[in-house]
Amino acid sequence: PARLVVLLSGAGSNLAALLAAHEDPAYGARVVAVVSDRPDAGGLDLARAAGVATVVVRPADFSARPEWDGALAQAVRVFAPDLVVSAGFMRILGAPFLDEFGGRILNTHPALLPAFPGAHGVRDALAYGVRVTGCTVHVVDAGVDTGPILAQAAVEVLHDDDEASLHERIKVAERELLVTWVGRAAREGLRVEGRRALVGHG
Ligand code: GAR
Repeated sequence: PARLVVLLSGAGSNLAALLAAHEDPAYGARVVAVVSDRPDAGGLDLARAAGVATVVVRPADFSARPEWDGALAQAVRVFAPDLVVSAGFMRILGAPFLDEFGGRILNTHPALLPAFPGAHGVRDALAYGVRVTGCTVHVVDAGVDTGPILAQAAVEVLHDDDEASLHERIKVAERELLVTWVGRAAREGLRVEGRRALVGHG
């Protein structure tokens, strides 16, 4: 199976979905490690409970940004990933990381990019007043949520939604989308053609 390293900063509901999927050998991918910038990320506990290796690389432990970038790349390199999955990792990946893993990093974002990039995709969509938002799986490039899009799913905004209720419904769609497309990328191969990310011959 393809080797996945998951980067996360939060609760890890997307990680949980990947851990459930990888139990099936036909899935074709396995989470071999979880790397976090935060020692208190709930996703680390999910990983430990599943017997998956965890590493924390805290920015505060490094004198400057390039040192942290280097340490993050080193932490991931140890596990020789075929794909890196950013699933609620709330930091920008720097040039050293992209130079090494570029084209093999998928990110999940809780909005229909290019609308509402950044750290508050759900809040910003709600504030704008859109009636439909959703989630996006894309290949990471040097910009903030600007990389070639692999897949998207739409989620309707309800009249009485707040950020939490909307994010919860987006997360349901998001984990299914992420599991599907990480699996396809692992089994069929991921490539980028201009603005488009593709798997297999599709
Ligand atoms: C997910 O909705 C993910 O799309 C979002 O954080 C959540 C993490 O949930 N990521 C971003 O907003 C990145 N800009 P999880 O920890 O339960 O998987």
